[in-house]
Amino acid sequence: MALTFRFPVQVVFGEGSLPEVRHFVKSFGKHALLVTGGGPTSRLPAVQALQDLLAAEGTAVTFFPEVESDPGVETVERGVAVARENGCDFVIGLGGGSPMDAAKVIAARLNNDGNITSWEGQGRIPRRGKPLICIPTTAGTGSEVTWVAVITGGKRRQKMSLVSQYLYPLLALVDPELTYSMSPELTAATGMDALTHAVESCVAKRSWEPTRALSLQAVRLIFTHLERACQDGSEHEARSGMSLASLLAGMAFTTSGLGLAHALAHALGSHFGVPHGKANALLLPHVMRFNLDCCPGLYRELAMAMGMDVSGLSAPRAAEKAVEAVEGLLALLPLPKNLSELGVPASSVEALSAEAFLNTRLRSSNPKDTVLEDLVQVLREAFA
Ligand SMILES: [Fe+2]
Repeated sequence: MALTFRFPVQVVFGEGSLPEVRHFVKSFGKHALLVTGGGPTSRLPAVQALQDLLAAEGTAVTFFPEVESDPGVETVERGVAVARENGCDFVIGLGGGSPMDAAKVIAARLNNDGNITSWEGQGRIPRRGKPLICIPTTAGTGSEVTWVAVITGGKRRQKMSLVSQYLYPLLALVDPELTYSMSPELTAATGMDALTHAVESCVAKRSWEPTRALSLQAVRLIFTHLERACQDGSEHEARSGMSLASLLAGMAFTTSGLGLAHALAHALGSHFGVPHGKANALLLPHVMRFNLDCCPGLYRELAMAMGMDVSGLSAPRAAEKAVEAVEGLLALLPLPKNLSELGVPASSVEALSAEAFLNTRLRSSNPKDTVLEDLVQVLREAFA
């Protein structure tokens, strides 16, 4: 069997690294479309700082601060129209996963005709898009280094995963200082998204040594830094550790894929608007327990990366320690404790499971094969 590892993104990482963007922009183009969220993200000091940096380099900027959570196809098309009207020749996505995903698809759409909904799945985008820079202001999504963008659309208004080599940014600029303004709740939710990426990518069917090394290091960093980052948002080491963890987990899962927690989280987001990180946080221990018996050796490695003492334990018991560690971490974080707290009705379990079961890309990368009833069972446990 041939194994692959893909990573075509140039990364700049470090506290205060935002000004490094000036070394790249002239080779990318003359006029940037700057894509951000429509709320507080658009008023972040980093947005003005970035515009000033670009102006100093003689780079024109058209500002598109209109991306909502779970961006729709219409938002992407509006961004494309604004870019074309203004003659933008490259794109910058700044914010959390939603603005960066929207920027990825806007950049692709600028060089490709056709209907974005027809790009759902893998390898459906015909040509390379416009040059793209992604700058995260949260620590969790990893979107700045992945070939995936999640856009809401289609007949059922579901979350569609677009997967293409043409969605990779040319540059990921990761400055942990940009995450300092996150609330404890957002820090916890995005951090648990990163942990779900790390755990799911570690045990996914296409994982292997290089991706697992990245996954396990991301897990170590999250267990070292997430609680502290929630308690004290200006704690530099914790913020930097979480930005690095998010980056490493993204580098892992863009090759290895994810699993059941993400399939179910997308269904919860599509049906009930449950924020992605909160959904993953609630689902992760239940999905881990479901998968446990198919790869106890990997779960043992995860438990050790989480700081658990597994010496002298049987393989199944050592694996169980990884689930206990995640449950222990969750108990310390400002997050909902079950799906009912998020307003999801228990009567929706079957419909949500059926929706997640259709997500064959995510479901098939899960280490354990599933039938519909497995998803129903995992979701029921997340209501408890
Ligand atoms: Fe995620």
